Amino acid sequence: MKTAIYPGSFDPVTYGHIDIIERAAKLFDRLIVLVSTNPTKPPTFSPAQRVDFLQRSLRKSLTTPEVNIEIDCHSGLFIDYFKKRGANVIVKGLRAMSDFEYEFQMALLNKDMCLGAETVFLSANVASMFLSSSAVKQIAQFGGDISAFVPHQIADDITNHLSTRSG
Ligand code: PNS
Repeated sequence: MKTAIYPGSFDPVTYGHIDIIERAAKLFDRLIVLVSTNPTKPPTFSPAQRVDFLQRSLRKSLTTPEVNIEIDCHSGLFIDYFKKRGANVIVKGLRAMSDFEYEFQMALLNKDMCLGAETVFLSANVASMFLSSSAVKQIAQFGGDISAFVPHQIADDITNHLSTRSG
């Protein structure tokens, strides 16, 4: 049984992430979508909110009988979680060459800390090449329409949260 983990900040999840999740779920027996902490990016949404956004966005996939997607949350070193779950593969999405250097470094570091940890990169689809959680947050903060970028189940919550914060 091949278990893959897709770690990320998901702050918040976008259609770009959903695309990677749906494609990765078809490649492995089990896919764990892991809300993790990126120490270089202080999050806008709490881990619980980010998990909730993922659950609501993926409700349809999560309730199908053959579901192989699990959503979890972890605040420590990713590779510790990877080992604990007996996982085989790390999934990451790549939007452009600019993502590559950082992702490649993480892949090598993770493999160094755990020999069996192979990272598989999935290329973003064309529609998501330009999409990022930070861009979505900026658009929402200034009253823009984010419905094309995040699932409809969570769009209003993101906009309300950000417009309240920016006053
Ligand atoms: O969506 P992001 O912000 O690019 O995801 C990065 C993330 C959260 C996967 C990465 O920062 C991470 O793995 N954080 C957990 C702490 C850790 O293990 N850091 C060392 C990575 S080599």
